[in-house]
Amino acid sequence: MAKSKTRYVCQDCGHESIRWAGQCGGCRAWNTLVEEAVPTTVKAPVMKGGRVSGDGGSGSAPRLAGAYGDARPQRLRDVTVAQRHRLPTGLAEFDRVLGGGAMVGSLTLVAGDPGIGKSTLMTELGRGLDGNTLLYVTGEESAQQVKLRAKRMGVDPDSFFLFPETNVEAILAAAYDLQPDVMVVDSIQTVYRPDLTSAPGSVAQVRESTAALLDVTKTLPTTTFLIGHVTKAGSIAGPRVLEHMVDTVLHFEGDRHHAYRILRAVKNRFGAANELGVFEMREDGLEEVGNPSALFLSERQFGTSGAAVVCALEGTRPLLVEVQALVAPASYGTPQRTATGFDSKRLQLLLAVLEKREGLRFSQNDVFLNVAGGVRLEEPAVDLGVALAVASSLKDVPLDSSTAIVGELGLGGEVRAVSRIDARLAEIKQLGFERALLPKVNMKGLKGPKGLELLPVRRLAEAIDLVA
Ligand code: TYD
Ligand code: MG
Repeated sequence: MAKSKTRYVCQDCGHESIRWAGQCGGCRAWNTLVEEAVPTTVKAPVMKGGRVSGDGGSGSAPRLAGAYGDARPQRLRDVTVAQRHRLPTGLAEFDRVLGGGAMVGSLTLVAGDPGIGKSTLMTELGRGLDGNTLLYVTGEESAQQVKLRAKRMGVDPDSFFLFPETNVEAILAAAYDLQPDVMVVDSIQTVYRPDLTSAPGSVAQVRESTAALLDVTKTLPTTTFLIGHVTKAGSIAGPRVLEHMVDTVLHFEGDRHHAYRILRAVKNRFGAANELGVFEMREDGLEEVGNPSALFLSERQFGTSGAAVVCALEGTRPLLVEVQALVAPASYGTPQRTATGFDSKRLQLLLAVLEKREGLRFSQNDVFLNVAGGVRLEEPAVDLGVALAVASSLKDVPLDSSTAIVGELGLGGEVRAVSRIDARLAEIKQLGFERALLPKVNMKGLKGPKGLELLPVRRLAEAIDLVA
């Protein structure tokens, strides 16, 4: 009988079985068996008496015939560092998010909600090829659909190769044949390895297909982008392990009802994580937004309570964004706390600090928080601005509209230092603000840009007195 090429492995305890079962025969856990391809290359060497024979101690490495493939352990001194080079994608915003262009031989996952514009973003790569070739593998759309989109977007028709295929073996064959500079697989959930019985999109298929694509990426080498859909729960469909396998994970996000899209590096082996690029979805593709702060502030309402401008550092770039808070009498028994673009647990914490340290009462009020432009603020340096926006709405007193706010809040109501204050203040000045509220601890040795008034605060109470 032919040996089975796949096996089912418990993801908890590693127990193997040749058939799928609901319960693991090893640890008795339920639904943990996942199909895997049986590896064919690894063979354990036979060692007598539990020891590797050799001249141990004399300095040269022990040899074990047949145990290795071509690769061997090397002394650190002998490891040569190949000059890896980066490929500019022709999209400045995209290059910046990647850390200065796409690294040759790297695998990048581009994840996002269906319909957010992932295929469009990847097709954009075809505009700035500059003589390089791109292989676009599509498992979701027909060749005609992709052609229509690419034509509308003005993609170079000679360097852009289209391949409607979902079988990984065929994709690999095409990649080795064409040796493209850039490869896009749209999407990883549609491709499959024919030697696995699991359906495309399953944990096993996504993992094994990615492993095969990773291999061709490093071998050729080429620069590969995998598109991955995000499930309703917000995780990338397929296994979490996908995120560990790839070099870079980019999230493409934004409100589908708005034109703005944000590309964020959540993991990057070759650059800063959390780097952020902003695009606008147009009729003819995605337009880069060079000055996102100006864009996010363009719809500001002046003179309304509950609005504050904060300066967040996303990756390496400071970004000014308006946060809006609405504190209103609760209509139901339990007051609501809803945050869009901000962690709602963090909001609750800030409300608790405002209650305990400043005596503001929210127990009878709903609190809504919204970050303009569809940005997600994850940096604690926006705490003070969020707290002041909430306080402003509760008191119904508008904050000074020509002041921007930076500062992290501690549980004791103290305003803590933020990183890279110079870059933040420069951005604040650049966008025409007259004043900046900042942590007192950041003042040491700080000059600040000319013409920008600095308002240093030590505690939340001082900040509230100053602006609200
Ligand atoms: P798409 O890239 O297909 O999304 P995804 O691959 O993430 O599922 O784009 C989805 C939407 O974008 C679609 O509703 C049409 C719109 N769109 C534009 O507004 N302008 C364009 O140039 C393109 C190509 C698409
Ligand atoms: Mg798509």
